[in-house]
Amino acid sequence: MTPIIVANWKMQLTDDDAIDVARRLAETVRHGELTVVLCPPFTALRAVAEGIRGSALALGAQDCAFAERGALTGEVSPADLVHLGCRYVILGHSERRHELGETDAMVARKVRAALGVGLTPILCVGETAVDRDAGRRDAVVRTQVRAALDGVALVGTQELYVAYEPVWAIGTGRAASPADAAAVHALIHDALADALGASGTAHVRILYGGSVDPANVKEFLAQPHTDGVLVGTAGQTAARLRNLIAAIA
Ligand code: PGA
Repeated sequence: MTPIIVANWKMQLTDDDAIDVARRLAETVRHGELTVVLCPPFTALRAVAEGIRGSALALGAQDCAFAERGALTGEVSPADLVHLGCRYVILGHSERRHELGETDAMVARKVRAALGVGLTPILCVGETAVDRDAGRRDAVVRTQVRAALDGVALVGTQELYVAYEPVWAIGTGRAASPADAAAVHALIHDALADALGASGTAHVRILYGGSVDPANVKEFLAQPHTDGVLVGTAGQTAARLRNLIAAIA
């Protein structure tokens, strides 16, 4: 299976920067080598989609509304993301959970809405430093996975990515140890089997995120139940993302 890299550009790039980075990367990544998903801000989605057309890169959004249509001022419909060329959508990122008050229930609705229009959700879960220090890491992650998949059954070609992103590791330069990440990935795998049935887990890929860089990426990818990585800082310029890709090869 080819490794997956999801690059979350957050609110860090202007639309001009985003299209420039996307165009440079489109020339670099070869088909079949890796699955590379670029997640620009909403405002750059259309331009990035055009810039990567025909390349090996895929497009994702950083969030979506929990309904296809409705009186939801400021929200973005998952159906419109598909129309713009997205195949993926990040959901439940810790910045949305902790800075913007997104709850497990909201994330669960978004997962269902995204699957309903054919998007692959990239569901983010992970404990805070307080949770970790209180010994609640496993319970928090298990609860987030279960809550997000309430009522979900994966059928046909539907896919789901789950990214374990310890909140204390995001943007701090302090990644989890690959062994700790692997322990949580095993727990996520079991929680997924409970929620989706053993056949459901065949539709799921598990990623690690949180201070992934060229020096540690290979070790994360070598862990069991680890199909890829979700990066912020290491994927926000063409040069950085190229370095990360080179480190995997
Ligand atoms: P980071 O961010 O790679 O900069 O730690 C990861 C993320 O926010 O998903």
